[in-house]
Amino acid sequence: MADLGFDGKVAIITGAGGGLGFEHAKVLASRGAQLVINDLGGTVDGEGGDDSAANKAAKQIEEMGGVAVANHDSVATPEGGKSIVDTALDAFGRIDIVINNAGILRDKAFHNMTPDLVDPVLDVHLRGAFNVTQPAWPHMREQGYGRVLCTASGAGIFGNFGQANYGAAKMGLVGFTNVLAVEGAKYNIKANAIAPIAHTRMTEDILGGAADKLGPEHISPVAAWLVHEDCPVSGEVYSVAGGRVARIFIGEAQGYVNTDGLTVEDVRDNFEQIRSEEGYFVPSDLNDELMTALGMLG
Ligand code: NAI
Repeated sequence: MADLGFDGKVAIITGAGGGLGFEHAKVLASRGAQLVINDLGGTVDGEGGDDSAANKAAKQIEEMGGVAVANHDSVATPEGGKSIVDTALDAFGRIDIVINNAGILRDKAFHNMTPDLVDPVLDVHLRGAFNVTQPAWPHMREQGYGRVLCTASGAGIFGNFGQANYGAAKMGLVGFTNVLAVEGAKYNIKANAIAPIAHTRMTEDILGGAADKLGPEHISPVAAWLVHEDCPVSGEVYSVAGGRVARIFIGEAQGYVNTDGLTVEDVRDNFEQIRSEEGYFVPSDLNDELMTALGMLG
């Protein structure tokens, strides 16, 4: 089969001054996409800003023979998001792909978590995806084509100590992705998410001996496939680490049914069946879940 190209496609990658975003940028640019390399250039905890991160990354892409413009706005505000999309429209006249990748960390055990640790994390990850994707959306609808990729995390999907703020934002992105998949379907706009594990400055101190197996370059082939024209899926999440790729899905168990008046004791006495994963199904959207549940009521 032919190699997968991105000729004629314009992609915004947020937080692409380094780490995963820059790896994504290299793969897309090498396959013909024209890029907006967005990066505020702050620290891992979101302090400060430095134009050189995006500038350097865009320059490197050009040196590789790719096409890229740098943008230094923060994804954390609607104005920033609009300006990032305007950069793509001004430079290339269209927008096909949004990769929401920018991120920060402000970890703390929940009992010590303060609003200054919560709001910026929600603003960058969750609102950031809204802020950048929303101004791109009308263009995608109009052209009947779009691809959105969000960067979720196992920290939210499965839970991780010290990351109530980050986990909430990252799982929020799964909900965001699901709804965009439903709303975008009619317009050939597909939205998916990855939950990566990779050695970047963000994970510098936590991967220990596994770090050298978990290079960020292992993540980008999956990101590129999920934003490619040929990608058949929407509303899905993929775990990616060190060359392993696997779908993560939210399934619903068969459950227990008593339509004659469910009691608290019924719930207690049938809790094993309620919890059993056997025969689970994976609803494609809320309506599918409702129809399936109604079908089980007889
Ligand atoms: P990174 O720190 O190298 O990259 C994040 C980039 O986002 C930085 O270049 C930073 O300057 C930029 N950024 C931060 N706030 C911004 C803002 N307001 N506007 C624009 N840019 C901003 O870390 P990494 O690992 O490459 O992270 C990329 C994404 O992957 C993040 O969303 C992160 O949460 C996510 N992720 C990473 C994992 C890993 O194992 N490295 C695990 C799960 C998720």
